[in-house]
Amino acid sequence: MSIQQNHTNITLTSLNKMRAQGEKIVCLTVYDACYAGIVSEAGVEVLLVGDSLGMVLQGHDSTLPVTMNDMVYHMRCVNRGNRGALLMADLPFMSYASESQTLENAASLMRAGAHIVKLEGGAWIANTTRLLSERGIPVCAHMGLTPQSVNRIGGFIVQGRDTSQAQSILKEARLLQDAGASILLLECVPRVLARQITDSLEIPVIGIGAGPYTSGQIMVLHDVLGISPITPKFVKNFLRDSEDSIPGAIKKYVQAVKNQTFPAPEHCFD
Ligand code: KIV
Repeated sequence: MSIQQNHTNITLTSLNKMRAQGEKIVCLTVYDACYAGIVSEAGVEVLLVGDSLGMVLQGHDSTLPVTMNDMVYHMRCVNRGNRGALLMADLPFMSYASESQTLENAASLMRAGAHIVKLEGGAWIANTTRLLSERGIPVCAHMGLTPQSVNRIGGFIVQGRDTSQAQSILKEARLLQDAGASILLLECVPRVLARQITDSLEIPVIGIGAGPYTSGQIMVLHDVLGISPITPKFVKNFLRDSEDSIPGAIKKYVQAVKNQTFPAPEHCFD
């Protein structure tokens, strides 16, 4: 499989085609125009303006302090630098707590350049997912470890290790697909569960710390470059073997996802 330079625009149709053909989808977070250019030129198909910016850019210990103003600002920056990738934006903590707030905030992200919005949760976001997708705003549902709920979960902990929790993640993933979700993102779940969910859905499933069997992978930019203060098990520093070239490191990440050498067994949870 060749690495694609994103000179033609990537759409949800492209991602569905890749999923159907078994080609892995490569996603990465970005927060500014400069990196948006580098990352999209390197062949990354989906750029996520993630609320992880609260941790990696702003220095908070969670994503909770991130505001809609922060998200819109960074979304606009990324949109200016993007060269044809699909742009996904996070709805931050408490920005989709009511219907009117959800519609207004999702519309602001779309006006700033997003092609799809991401929200965290299980069954409780089914109505929100339907509300948005029926109005033309595609939704990526983020399940498994949902960092906006870190206080309820009790830490950044692998989810779905016990059978009953695994079954409810699977059931709720199907529910969100039926409610109109266009993509599912799975964070920090055992690889076997991620495989089961990927096999039972008809939409692309993107994983982070979810093993090799999903339709694609996503990572936080600062983790790929090895400059995050903490290094979870699922992270790989691609800059180390790239002679200090940032575009080279991103291309190595793209290549490793495409040829399925990343994630390796040491990056996976059981
Ligand atoms: O905000 C973010 O960067 C994310 C990734 C961890 C997937 O949601």
